[in-house]
Amino acid sequence: MSQCVCVSDFEERARKVLPKAVYDYYRSGADEQRTLHDNVEAFSRWCLVPRVLRDVSSVDMSLSVLGQKLSMPVCVASTAMQRMAHPTGRWPQPEVQYAMGTAMMLSSWATSTIEEVAVLYIYKDRELSLSLVRRAEQAGYQAIFLTVDTPYLGRRWDDVRNRFKLPSHLSMSNFSAPSLSFSEDSYGEDSGLSVYVSKAIDPSLSWEDVLWLKAHTQLPVILKGILSAEDARQAVDCGVDGILVSNHGARQLDGVPATLDVLSEVVQAVAGRCDVYLDGGVRKGTDVLKALALGAKAVFIGRPVLWGLACQGEQGVTELLTMLKEELRLAMALAGCRSLSEVSKALVRRRDDFSRL
Ligand SMILES: Cc1cc2nc3c(=O)[nH]c(=O)nc-3n(C[C@H](O)[C@H](O)[C@H](O)COP(=O)(O)O)c2cc1C
Repeated sequence: MSQCVCVSDFEERARKVLPKAVYDYYRSGADEQRTLHDNVEAFSRWCLVPRVLRDVSSVDMSLSVLGQKLSMPVCVASTAMQRMAHPTGRWPQPEVQYAMGTAMMLSSWATSTIEEVAVLYIYKDRELSLSLVRRAEQAGYQAIFLTVDTPYLGRRWDDVRNRFKLPSHLSMSNFSAPSLSFSEDSYGEDSGLSVYVSKAIDPSLSWEDVLWLKAHTQLPVILKGILSAEDARQAVDCGVDGILVSNHGARQLDGVPATLDVLSEVVQAVAGRCDVYLDGGVRKGTDVLKALALGAKAVFIGRPVLWGLACQGEQGVTELLTMLKEELRLAMALAGCRSLSEVSKALVRRRDDFSRL
């Protein structure tokens, strides 16, 4: 097989090996997928302005995130039902994450249990939500990401067309109650996941629940799915430990801004009172560098990891992360940055600025 030299190569190979409904489920965004395209496009609206003659013989990409020492500012976002991606069904084990010096979130809709490998949805049953928090604490997790953009599931046209559902040999491993397992029900005209979400997830979720979660765990709480300065300020007022600027990989409300486009205003609103992270459309080392220059402490990647997993299981994920790490190292060196502390807003200019000159 030919070598994969960029994320698109991994995706192309994954498209060939995955069943169509699975590939569509992973790839899709909501509705017309305007935001899906924009998440990626937004990175090309910014140019890197390098500095030269800076002795870049050594580049240090290490940092500390939520008390964890990482070797690079690229982490793995939660993706539900990741076991469909590879025949062995093995999600990269913690050893991969340690070896790569990165961090991973696990979705509570994962097809692996919390103990095996934490992103939380708040369930109508608060005791159930709390039991997931306790299991994450006991399993040694370092943080809880609370997904706040999914009171209902966004409508993904391909999933509806494909009547997407979890293959019968897999289950949502974190739940034993039949009402919370997502499998072989009759789904009518909708996608199976959307029916599941309307049964299990609490659409009345509010800022009160953020305070509730903060009161029930010592772990840092990061809100995943913030897109405005107003919500960022409110999150800080609730005492959250971090904000992940995310539009759920453009799978929820179509027509929202690309995450990179709102990053600066969120960073400004937060004014250093908690960490700000970004996900959505990050596909290259230069994308990572642009997000860091605009104020993200680290970025998360979703689909690229699924493509790596589909191509070659754990090995594919390791190769993909190694590739992105090397891309970031090269991008930093060519931009004249020897460490992450040298990455600042001065490194980026909007492309429009040049066309007006
Ligand atoms: C197939 C798939 C499943 C996802 N499942 C979840 C999930 O269960 N919980 C969650 O908070 N986000 C979920 N996300 C969103 C990701 O965590 C992340 O925000 C997004 O994928 C980042 O965008 P990217 O795929 O362009 O990198 C999912 C994304 C994909 C593609």
